[in-house]
Amino acid sequence: MSLTSTDNAVAGRRASPPAVAGTCPDSLLRAVRAEVRGGLDWQQTAECVARMLRRNLPDPAAILPPRLRRGDPACYQSHLLYAEPDGSFSIAAMVWLPGQETVIHDHVSWCVTGVLQGREYEEIFALTGGDRALELAALNVNPAGAVCGFAPPGDIHRVRGVRRPRGL
Ligand SMILES: [Fe+2]
Repeated sequence: MSLTSTDNAVAGRRASPPAVAGTCPDSLLRAVRAEVRGGLDWQQTAECVARMLRRNLPDPAAILPPRLRRGDPACYQSHLLYAEPDGSFSIAAMVWLPGQETVIHDHVSWCVTGVLQGREYEEIFALTGGDRALELAALNVNPAGAVCGFAPPGDIHRVRGVRRPRGL
């Protein structure tokens, strides 16, 4: 089972529509859709969506019920909030307990992240050795309210929850 919407989107392995686990506020959904339909390139789209999200970060309680905000000691969680029918974007809420982390990955598309609660520890990697190896290029500790947008190339990263309360 894939843990992230990214895994599913990249692999195209899902045979049926993904299950929606939370609620995406209509205002946020409309704003993201408007930016995506702007027809900008991926980097510009990421920057525009990030700028919009900084003004419209939702309350965690508005998007996930308490049982999903608690996290799972077995692994970090990714909850789909919305998937645009044409596949142009999706919105997900991820929950990390302290110490839980993703694998090192990229998104092969634009992506915007916003920290709603807790802190997110993010490692960014660069290709080196003739693109055969990775080296740590940056470390970021993103507090609640931090929003960033990115697009390939240069989006290889790993995310970890580091502090209580849990990251979301
Ligand atoms: Fe990621």
